Amino acid sequence: MSRLHVGIIMDGNGRWATSRGLPRRTGHREGARALRRVVEAAPDHGIDTLTVYAFSADNWRRPAAEVRGLMGLFRSYLRHERRAASTHGVAVSVIGRRDRLPAALRREIDRMEAETRRGTRLRVRVAVDYSARDAIVRAARQATLAPALDQPSFESLLAAVDHGPPAPPVDLLIRTGGEQRLSDFLLWESAYAELYFTDTMWPDFGPAELAAALTAFQRRERRFGGLTPAAGAA
Ligand code: FPP
Repeated sequence: MSRLHVGIIMDGNGRWATSRGLPRRTGHREGARALRRVVEAAPDHGIDTLTVYAFSADNWRRPAAEVRGLMGLFRSYLRHERRAASTHGVAVSVIGRRDRLPAALRREIDRMEAETRRGTRLRVRVAVDYSARDAIVRAARQATLAPALDQPSFESLLAAVDHGPPAPPVDLLIRTGGEQRLSDFLLWESAYAELYFTDTMWPDFGPAELAAALTAFQRRERRFGGLTPAAGAA
């Protein structure tokens, strides 16, 4: 079975909640449940790397109470899922800047990464305080003294500025919630990603929607700029 890298922009928590007369934080809590369902289903679909956009660098502009709530949610999610992730061979890491995160969240990230690093079934990368453009700029700053720089070595720098080993290119990028844009997510890594947009709000996304996205993906002809489908392309 193919080994796929799927990226997900988990959008629509707020609208899911307000359309039901619920506070936005309830939408985020349900969003966390949706993430768990997708993590559980992912390996059965040949996904070995899943990168999810939890908090963009621009999300700091949200009201302070919502930001606080999200940071608290990330922390409790990491704490509560650590044992299950470790037991099921899921390696969880966080990409993005760390210096602006609350110290308690940073500690929880360290614990999660240390305890699950040997997982081989699925790699889940949670993007928090993440900006693809900012990561590219920070990597470029480190590269200015390297005239022999090529794409693979730049990719190593890019991964390192966001705390990770290099991840494979994104095969499929899913965005829920009806918008059709990339919002500064994995811009380099998605150079040849297939894009899949759905009106489903993230809290309603589950295994059936994931299967539908992968079915659509399998029907795409991936040529990577050539004239014929690339060998081994999904
Ligand atoms: C986008 O919906 C979602 C976020 C900014 C937060 C994402 C967080 C989760 C999915 C919670 C689970 C994640 C982890 C790692 C525990 P929005 O608030 O932009 O919704 P809207 O566009 O409808 O306002």
